[in-house]
Amino acid sequence: MKNFIYNNSTIIIFGKDSEQKVGFETKKYGKKVLLHYGGGSIKRSGLYDKVINSLKKEEIDVIELSGVKPNPRLSLVREGIKLVKENNIDFILAVGGGSVIDSAKAISIGAMYDKDVWDFFDKGVEIKAALPIGVVLTLPAAGSETSHSCVITNEDGWYKRSAASILERPKFAIMNPELTYTLPNYQTACGATDMIAHVMERYFTNEKNVEYTDQLCEATIRVIMDSVKICLNDNHNYASRANLMWAGTNAHSGILGTGRIEDWASHGIEHELSGIYDITHGAGLAIIFPAWMKYVYKHDLERFARFANTVFGIKINNDLHETSLQGIKRLEDFFAEIGLPTKLSEVNISTDKFEEMAIKATKNHKIGNFVKLGKEDVINILNLAK
Ligand code: NZQ
Ligand code: ZN
Repeated sequence: MKNFIYNNSTIIIFGKDSEQKVGFETKKYGKKVLLHYGGGSIKRSGLYDKVINSLKKEEIDVIELSGVKPNPRLSLVREGIKLVKENNIDFILAVGGGSVIDSAKAISIGAMYDKDVWDFFDKGVEIKAALPIGVVLTLPAAGSETSHSCVITNEDGWYKRSAASILERPKFAIMNPELTYTLPNYQTACGATDMIAHVMERYFTNEKNVEYTDQLCEATIRVIMDSVKICLNDNHNYASRANLMWAGTNAHSGILGTGRIEDWASHGIEHELSGIYDITHGAGLAIIFPAWMKYVYKHDLERFARFANTVFGIKINNDLHETSLQGIKRLEDFFAEIGLPTKLSEVNISTDKFEEMAIKATKNHKIGNFVKLGKEDVINILNLAK
């Protein structure tokens, strides 16, 4: 097990009616708040009114910026930074899913920087300060509610890039599973797939003696799979919604990666897909992850056979190749069962931009750590996914 420092400082306020506490929590950090949200789901569900009332009760000034799109855009982030600077805003409240939270994080680092915020994403400039942010989560998926990174798409060239710093971790995340009852099944399924991918990016490591987190990873994937299937048939199943939500946070809080080197090649490739084609991140992962697995499984047959066994109950036989491939097939079948595409052709993506995506994904260095991948490898993986 590798040495590590683990510090996830986000306070989780979980459970029924927890959104009623948003004003009280916000007041600890700021008096003038940027309320950031997406395309209107929070107005339709009634959450918007509850948040406004709670903030008003604490006499907090509110300035709003709505319109965050899935795969959040740099232009809105720049607008948010301007708004924050001009109005002396001291806290950002993100109400929504991963896209809203990521947009809020990007505004929070850009507001404390006197040059262009894209420097953090493109040039790797170190993040030295960030405005505090808080979250009311409505979509369990990206894990951004406690993660230390954000992912933004620059419309100029359709680059989807991330910027990371522990300064981005939200001060608090309010998580009421009931707020996810209104999710369309497709978003619930995409969210669960993103969670599973976050666990697998950590599970497929070359580190050997990490039995504790290996087993946490396996259990987390099983719970996500069981819970999402129930949620898709029974929208209002509180127990399954709650398990899914909490598993999604821990899939990406950092705990499952402790003591090991994580991979992240599949996310790197997927970000090119959702950056260029604007598909849902979880759907892109349902396509790319099985292709990546088929490409690299021979690197560690024991690990892939163990995955097949512990996640799907497939008996490990003498032929580890066969067991590994059965596990990958079952994962693909699972994604299809919950209504997601598993091939690029299903989302109308042709081979046209394989080269461009591979160049972009590997522009600065090879990607992945389980197996390091260069441009040709990425093209091979995209071909396995077509
Ligand atoms: O915009 P609104 O109207 O709110 O609608 C959203 C959006 O259309 C809707 N929605 C959210 N909660 C709802 C709801 N509809 C009904 N009822 C609710 N309760 O769902 C749609 C998708 O929302 P979005 O925020 O885009 O989804 P998600 O949470 O999956 O976030 C995806 C983004 O997160 C990034 C992805 O790349 C993608 O851009 N990621 C961020 C990470 C991080 N910061 O740590 C890690 C991840 O790997 C990921 O890359
Ligand atoms: Zn993800």
